[in-house]
Amino acid sequence: MKEHKIAVIAGDGIGPEVLAEGVKVLNRISELDRTFRFQFTNFPWGCEYYLKYGRMMADDGIEQLKAFDAIFLGAVGYPGVPDHISLWDLLLVIRKSFDQYVNLRPVKLLKGAPCPLKDVKQEDIDMLFIRENSEGEYAGSGSWLFKGKPNEVVIQDGVFSRVGCERIIRYAFEVARAQKKTLSSISKGNALNYSMVFWDQIFKEISEEYPDVETHSYLVDAASMFMVKDPKRFQIVVTSNLFGDILTDLGAAISGGMGLAAGANLNPERKYPSMFEPIHGSAPDIAGQGTANPLAAIWSASQMLEFFGHKEWADRLIAIIEEILSEKRVLTPDLGGTATTQQVGNEVVRKLSRS
Ligand SMILES: NC(=O)c1ccc[n+]([C@@H]2O[C@H](COP(=O)([O-])OP(=O)(O)OC[C@H]3O[C@@H](n4cnc5c(N)ncnc54)[C@H](O)[C@@H]3O)[C@@H](O)[C@H]2O)c1
Repeated sequence: MKEHKIAVIAGDGIGPEVLAEGVKVLNRISELDRTFRFQFTNFPWGCEYYLKYGRMMADDGIEQLKAFDAIFLGAVGYPGVPDHISLWDLLLVIRKSFDQYVNLRPVKLLKGAPCPLKDVKQEDIDMLFIRENSEGEYAGSGSWLFKGKPNEVVIQDGVFSRVGCERIIRYAFEVARAQKKTLSSISKGNALNYSMVFWDQIFKEISEEYPDVETHSYLVDAASMFMVKDPKRFQIVVTSNLFGDILTDLGAAISGGMGLAAGANLNPERKYPSMFEPIHGSAPDIAGQGTANPLAAIWSASQMLEFFGHKEWADRLIAIIEEILSEKRVLTPDLGGTATTQQVGNEVVRKLSRS
């Protein structure tokens, strides 16, 4: 029997609550399938760990994680620890150390999911964001000069390497070709006269290798407007680290909310473990109440199943999420229901068991 070794970093706030449901669902799927199983190992890293030990993860944390096939992460960040520490010393360290340069974020309005936009049909919102995840505006390069003095200056660099841009754009073209969809590049070449002119140039160069893929280029400001006014024009989307981060929260807002937004951080070469996580944060405002929506975490589990080659189970999970959304019987408060996090997880397991 094939075994998938998964490192579980439940993290902070609602992270452990939603991840428990994701693990429950994955375990049930492996019981039903019988050709593979999961071996989960929990790591207690996050803000509580930081307050105890002064660091977000063990010193040899990256070394420990290397032994796993994938990482399943809840959320990190909590009041009491500065956000730039919790993000940089755990999440971004993992993404960078394991060269998870592809961040896949579906922005898809599932059947039955609420949509705040007028006159939009379910099939009009069906995008896949491919966000550069290793450099760009989140490269961590810059300086803080004359700290605390009247002439204080900060500089935050955007780092766009040829290798970095080419590999993410090529990855996006491959996905667009395989799925026979259009590819939109989102940048800001008019104002960012080095980085984004370079990005646009590489997008154009690589597009010549893929004459069969229809392409579009948008400035990020126009793209955010079109995502609201005419979302159906976007199918596969490739963009930089910062723009992808922001636009996919907008994407979540038009496709059911943060409780339904999944994400995967991939090292496509599979040299290192990839990481699967809902895109939402630790939601301190609802943490500990047992009412967080676990469907984003469960959708991320579906992405993990697909990455491991279990496409049928991945699709089955999405179909079950759509059933739950359409029936509107077992939903958490963010989707207008009264169910608990656990009840939603149990409902997914119940529907799996029936299939
Ligand atoms: N990947 C990550 O781990 C990640 C991502 C974003 C923010 N953060 C961190 O999380 C903390 C809180 O950040 P924030 O408030 O800006 O963003 P957030 O995503 O945690 O919350 C934004 C809003 O969405 C709601 N929400 C989020 N997930 C939900 C779910 N599953 N079910 C129901 N409602 C949900 C919250 O209640 C809140 O009202 C910060 O410390 C931040 O740095 C972590």
